Amino acid sequence: MQTHDPAKLIPADFAPVPSLVWLGALDVSVVDDLSADLGAVGIVVADSGDVPEAIGFDREALSRAGFSAEKGATLVLPQPSGPTLVLVGSGPTDELSGAVLRDAAAAFARASSSFAEVGLRAPDIGDVDPAAAAQALTEGTLLARYRYRALRAEHKETALTRLELAVSDADTSTVEAGRAAGLANVRAATVARDLANTPPGHLTAQNLAEIAVELGESFGFEVETFDRDALIELGCGGLLGVNAGSAEEPRMIRLRYSGGSDRKLALVGKGIMYDSGGISLKPSDPMHLLMKMDMGGAAAILGAFTALRDVGVTTDVSAWLMCTDNMPSGSAYKLGDVLTARGGTTVEVKNTDAEGRLVMMDGLVLATEWDPDAIVDIATLTGAALMALGPLTAALFSNDQPLADRVRAASEATSEQAWQLPLERAYRKQLDSDIADISNLGGAFAGATTAALFLEAFVSGVPWAHLDIAGTMQSPTDDSWRAAGATGYGARLLVRLAESF
Ligand code: BES
Ligand code: MN
Ligand code: ZN
Repeated sequence: MQTHDPAKLIPADFAPVPSLVWLGALDVSVVDDLSADLGAVGIVVADSGDVPEAIGFDREALSRAGFSAEKGATLVLPQPSGPTLVLVGSGPTDELSGAVLRDAAAAFARASSSFAEVGLRAPDIGDVDPAAAAQALTEGTLLARYRYRALRAEHKETALTRLELAVSDADTSTVEAGRAAGLANVRAATVARDLANTPPGHLTAQNLAEIAVELGESFGFEVETFDRDALIELGCGGLLGVNAGSAEEPRMIRLRYSGGSDRKLALVGKGIMYDSGGISLKPSDPMHLLMKMDMGGAAAILGAFTALRDVGVTTDVSAWLMCTDNMPSGSAYKLGDVLTARGGTTVEVKNTDAEGRLVMMDGLVLATEWDPDAIVDIATLTGAALMALGPLTAALFSNDQPLADRVRAASEATSEQAWQLPLERAYRKQLDSDIADISNLGGAFAGATTAALFLEAFVSGVPWAHLDIAGTMQSPTDDSWRAAGATGYGARLLVRLAESF
């Protein structure tokens, strides 16, 4: 897994997915009693009922120290010897859930971030299923301790090397299954984060295709990559049009996972390796530093695929990742150009910065040709989605309410928030073109909706849901399961969706 251009002075041993190295060396185990040689030990405490005896203080004393065990609160208690004790609140027992435990684990991870070896005990998980609890604790701890480490020799933060989990008095094999599912989901999200955090010069569409091939070999899925000639053969005029201004070749990356059942889930991801806007050049404001993450949708899908086998998905899942950068140059596509999508639909380009929908249209048509039960696409598609819902909630659109409900349920299970917006078809005429079948630009308002309506024009009535993750692909700060930078949003959601499909 490496990039090859010597002129970029990228070392031959550059690891584009350093989290795999981190997770490979990390020891996560389920125990009855946490070891005495750990650096820090966390105990999850509800805001009422008995305080676990091991803490050595009663509720009165804790509350005098300012700790009332509300959700996400922490209290660090140094010990004369042995591990530092970290109390972490989980709030009211009747509100306890996987999400609350995941957040509590993340709060613990931040309070104990100077320790390489930690343990976390949840003495009382109420009605939460023990496997779900173990999964949530694993995810919360590891996702909060994530750092992008590929490009600096020295790190301020200590890397986590060992995590012990003690979950109530539940049966060890159940908790063990949750730990394993947690690790697979952490891998999904951190692979997605690593890829989105990678600088654009270190990760071209070709590089991503090579990485996908290696991940497929390691994690049990098939990968087929399509270069420029193959894309011409397929008639993918959207991906080729957006790529026209680039010095780098495009790639379409096809992923296939065989679950064995006769259900078929298709995924399509936006893989804009860097979005300059093209001839409709973006201004150089700091926001556009984020445009290396314009492949966050493709990264989320690729990350999710690394978990499908390990969590035992039985559905067949197939994905199309549409990868290129969007650059201005003498050969770039122009405003007024007409591109021909796979399947023959012609598209007038009114803005080259609305490139995401152009690469997605080819992927959506190819997905319909596979004859799936549903198509879910994920794309950093519009600034309007970020404006409307901010960095915590993705915009969800669908032509099929049962599918939208499934996506919402997956989103709730993983705390990757999504909110459904109406697919207002009255706005469709904003996309009319005088010279082609459709144009790629709507009016001034409801930009996330007009983008979704554009995509809908290519799904041939197949049940389809669209996640616009322009807001959620990155986080300005550390926040619950998110680490500052790329969030990996969608990776776990898609795993959950595939599991429940
Ligand atoms: N990649 C951007 C959307 C984006 C914006 C993602 C901010 C993350 C943060 C997308 O390609 C884009 O440029 N969209 C335009 C569409 C417009 C020209 C219709 C936008 O939202 O401004
Ligand atoms: Mn753009
Ligand atoms: Zn874009």
